[in-house]
Amino acid sequence: MTESPAPSPYGPQDPVVQDPEALRQRALAALLTARERTGILTDSVDDHELTAQHSPLMSPLVWDLAHIGNQEELWLLRGVAGREAMRPEIDGLYDAFEHPRATRPSLPLLAPAEARSYASEVRGRALDVLESTPLGDRPLVRSGFVFGMIAQHEQQHDETMLITHQLRSGPAVLTAPEPPRAAGAATPPPEVLVPGGPFTMGTSTEPWALDNERPAHRREVPGFFIDTAPVTCGAYRAFIEDGGYTQRRWWQPEGWAMVRDHELTAPLFWHRDAGQWLRRRFGVTEPVPADEPVLHVSWYEADAYARWAGRRLPSEAEWEKAARHDPASGRSRRYPWGDEDPTPERANLGQRHLRPAPAGAYAAGRAPSGAGQLIGDVWEWTSSDFLPYPGFAPFPYREYSEVFFGPEHKVLRGGSFAVDAVACRGTFRNWDLPVRRQIFAGFRTARDM
Ligand code: AVJ
Ligand code: FE
Repeated sequence: MTESPAPSPYGPQDPVVQDPEALRQRALAALLTARERTGILTDSVDDHELTAQHSPLMSPLVWDLAHIGNQEELWLLRGVAGREAMRPEIDGLYDAFEHPRATRPSLPLLAPAEARSYASEVRGRALDVLESTPLGDRPLVRSGFVFGMIAQHEQQHDETMLITHQLRSGPAVLTAPEPPRAAGAATPPPEVLVPGGPFTMGTSTEPWALDNERPAHRREVPGFFIDTAPVTCGAYRAFIEDGGYTQRRWWQPEGWAMVRDHELTAPLFWHRDAGQWLRRRFGVTEPVPADEPVLHVSWYEADAYARWAGRRLPSEAEWEKAARHDPASGRSRRYPWGDEDPTPERANLGQRHLRPAPAGAYAAGRAPSGAGQLIGDVWEWTSSDFLPYPGFAPFPYREYSEVFFGPEHKVLRGGSFAVDAVACRGTFRNWDLPVRRQIFAGFRTARDM
């Protein structure tokens, strides 16, 4: 079964791999990479910690593990290959809509050893399905989509599990090398100008783009300035020390209520000791690094900081134009640096490092606009509500995106150090409630021209 790549209506054919054998190899590699990461996150703690609730915001790690296997069984074994359910009695336990996270520890979940063997049995069968399924005859498998979707799903839960690791108490169990520092070259300007005009937002050609990234459409975006790098801890500290958390005028009413109700004074995981700001990061307490992008701030905190700085959050269209639009060709790139996949020189992704790189790092990853670190390091809050693009169609299930559309969720862009390249690209859209602080989120600011 071969597929003829559809020409992009917005410029030359996107140089995305379309050859079925190459897609199969890509899917295999993505599934294996995800499972290796899942192994690290679940083998690094004992059975007690796997089944414990580390925070009411999170599932026990053993739930994520079996849920990963269950989604893979649902989509690849039952959906693609039409197999019978392996354990029909467990589906309800691992349906994220049936049980809120806080209640999951009290469910009769598979024990760690059972969860591991279930997930690996599913995986063995799924690899057979990948090998024997023609990639092209049904929308679900066209371009290997559903295999890419399942690899992305596992990596999304690997990021969720890393958040659980960050929330757990006790000594460090994960280690990773330090990220690269900014190369000695000239310091980039603090902000760059993105001139006004239309650009292509979203995608109709990226094979594994999820439903909410589709379809590609033109957007008119007036000129604006945007920060070259995410806001740093040092800059954020100036907001704190200027009374940012004590002055109502910087805050949205709901944000001010959150500050008052929870007595917030700084990002999550920060505390002051003898006049010094310290933070906890994966079981280690360390001084807050001034030049590192700030993490663990809610949308309300990002919005308040921007107002204090005389600026604002970028809209998601502004963010994407700054990240993807190439004025020379008039087309939108897959990534800020071009159409080639991420590499360790271009972006901090995949839990290769357990923190963002200092602002100014990854010169090789800059966009034509001059903005850097758009992909990787920290998820970036935007001012935008999570809404469908014109022409949106739910695929393959309403519960991935559609049920979350609306003003209660804010869009995050760009991906963090904790997400893998398979689940991160110039068009990728993440979303969360504006009060959430445990996610690996920071922000950059913008202003009108
Ligand atoms: C897109 C990251 C918000 O983790 O809730 C995982 C991804 N969807 N399982 C989430 C997801 C179903 C989702 N986010
Ligand atoms: Fe899930």
